[in-house]
Amino acid sequence: MVGLGPKRQPSRKGSMADVPKNLLQEIENLENLFTVDAAKLKQITDHFVGELTAGLEKDGQNIPMNPTWVMGFPDGDEQGTFLALDMGGTNLRVCEITLTEEKGEFDIIQSKYRMPEELKTGTAEELWEYIADCLQQFIEYHHEEGDLTALPLGFTFSYPATQDYIDHGILQRWTKGFDISGVEGEDVVPQFQAALDARKLPIKLAALINDTTGTMIASAYTDQSMKIGCIFGTGCNAAYMENCGSIPKLKHMNLPDDMPMAINCEYGAFDNDHKVLPITKYDTIIDENSPRPGQQAFEKMIAGLYLGEIFRLVVVDLHENKNILFEGQDISKLRKPYTLDASFPAFIEEDPFENLQETHDMFREKLGINATKPELELCRRLAELIGTRAARLSACGVAAICKKKNIESCHVGADGSVFTKYPHFKARGAQALREILDWPKGKKDPVSILPSEDGSGVGAALIAALTLKRIKAGNTAGVRDPSKFDIWLK
Ligand code: BGC
Repeated sequence: MVGLGPKRQPSRKGSMADVPKNLLQEIENLENLFTVDAAKLKQITDHFVGELTAGLEKDGQNIPMNPTWVMGFPDGDEQGTFLALDMGGTNLRVCEITLTEEKGEFDIIQSKYRMPEELKTGTAEELWEYIADCLQQFIEYHHEEGDLTALPLGFTFSYPATQDYIDHGILQRWTKGFDISGVEGEDVVPQFQAALDARKLPIKLAALINDTTGTMIASAYTDQSMKIGCIFGTGCNAAYMENCGSIPKLKHMNLPDDMPMAINCEYGAFDNDHKVLPITKYDTIIDENSPRPGQQAFEKMIAGLYLGEIFRLVVVDLHENKNILFEGQDISKLRKPYTLDASFPAFIEEDPFENLQETHDMFREKLGINATKPELELCRRLAELIGTRAARLSACGVAAICKKKNIESCHVGADGSVFTKYPHFKARGAQALREILDWPKGKKDPVSILPSEDGSGVGAALIAALTLKRIKAGNTAGVRDPSKFDIWLK
């Protein structure tokens, strides 16, 4: 064990007796840089509460706090067949979902299409054409029979969008490394709908949703204690249910104070003005080299897209500027930005062997680097520090929503590759929540973050169903043209 830093975190066991002094010293530096102690977590959370509140007050704040026009939780009795489209960071998924008669149950047929890398920096036309092609393919292969117009489509578009209506969304800015021209500042729905119309696909969008809102609603379909939906994946964000009376920026709409409204926080943008986050020089490089510098400060420290890159930047720095890692070796493969994704540090943390044989092999095979045991020890500690920082900072967002809403106990539905796959992420996040919210030791955690149902598929279908249900019941708030929904209400 390294016994150096004052703010040391529990580390994987393993002797560091063979680690030379200069590497031990560097490990201590890294520990100081990446460790976020309980006091700092609390300070961040308090600042977070302020930013959540500010976002509800007016536009243009760090955290957008976007009203979504999802106005209530499901009761488990929703029914019908829906199409769902999920545009994620890596894949595009098309689903046909039937919410069945059995409470909280559903059937799903789905196909996944890889989003070509070049699409992410292409044009709006290319994006919508690709999506329409996939949808068309899915329909041709999988949709059995029946009138397609009868199937309301829920589109999970997981980027910050201003929604004046449920079937509308002006993209505020691309996140997660996307940089497609011609979409920011525009309503994505007519662009998407035009591509469908051009293919004579008689499908109409009923609801544009965010993956976090979908996650919250899908989780609540089977568990009524679910109050928050989170994504810890390529990006990070959360949604929760607010009362319209606590959303000053919607005051002009005269909605009843106690009417529920799901808020897509878009809190990846927390602390964009760098007031509290413990930003390192590596985080600064990530930001400066990203397509949208100055945006998504919080997300860039914790989301899956960036974890491998943070690791890479540190390792290259230690080799190049400090001459203490991989001396005399050719690290050219490591020089390319984003060469390593989050699975790289995740794999290191998962190496079950104390001599780090598997990590050694991975460095050799993937990067052509022959690492010594002490170098591997440093890399393991670094992976652990980066993964722990991500999990602990992530907990601040959840804690802030709980504090803001005075939620003393609830379930939080979570999804995303980091949550489901990154080693120890769940346990580290839970530990941080305990520290922030000062729960008594030895009792069951009152707030627990649990794996959720498929929010981007089932959640999208449920939101379409909930929208139809409330229009039928006469609540047309945030519905631009209720007559558009008539085809589905018959
Ligand atoms: C997006 C959010 C999304 C999150 C998780 C962020 O980059 O801005 O809309 O919920 O990623 O996918």
